[in-house]
Amino acid sequence: MQVQVYKTAEKACRAAAMLFAAQITKKPDSVLGLATGSSPVPCYRDLVAMHQQGLLDFSKVTTFNLDEYCGIDYANPCSYHAFMDENLFHHVNVRREAIHLPDAAGAGDGGAAGRAYDAAIEAAGGIDLQLLGIGCNGHIGFNEPASDFTYGTHIVDLAENTIQANARFFKSEAEVPRKAISMGIGNIMACRSVVLIATGENKADAVYRSVRGPVDPQVPASILRTHPSVLFLLDEAAAARL
Ligand code: F6R
Repeated sequence: MQVQVYKTAEKACRAAAMLFAAQITKKPDSVLGLATGSSPVPCYRDLVAMHQQGLLDFSKVTTFNLDEYCGIDYANPCSYHAFMDENLFHHVNVRREAIHLPDAAGAGDGGAAGRAYDAAIEAAGGIDLQLLGIGCNGHIGFNEPASDFTYGTHIVDLAENTIQANARFFKSEAEVPRKAISMGIGNIMACRSVVLIATGENKADAVYRSVRGPVDPQVPASILRTHPSVLFLLDEAAAARL
């Protein structure tokens, strides 16, 4: 695992954008794993700017997002489908049919939808480069602290502190969905390379436990230490405890 610390969140996100740009330039038909939440927003802004300047072509790229809430319409601005359209997909030339998010609407108990998502990732040749944020409790995707690491895409019950943290995107905490469908830790570990962005002092504890603590399913991001190609991009606030 490599860790890089930048003065500001903007600079950490710029570094992530440069890695994604390099990946797409080197392999135009890259399979990218994408994340939502506030951490990657500046990274997507930089990628959009590079595309608009004619520097980056998404026409051959395939994307797989980590997760989606269950129980809200994809047209709801709080859905991850809407988030991705607004922050990236509507502004670059990625083909609509090359965009994938887990099928929360068809999820049911998660079994079939999860297996279909895993099969689609495999059929695309696996993920070349996966972008991650990290929850204050150490979650990646929506893999919450648990007694075991999960394998494939599955339905999750969101942790109470995740519901509280994500309430800022909704009108009230009561509106935050209690369930989501998420790639599993196995899906993330199968990606050829992983870049995690963590910014802000509220991530300092999760970063410290992931980088310095034991590998423990109670801190899901700690498993990344056993992955051969992982880069943590941090601002100084998120790196404060290292
Ligand atoms: C989002 C995701 C989550 C977020 C994490 C951090 O697709 O899978 O793991 O990355 O909750 O969210 P922010 O960046 O909003 O603090």
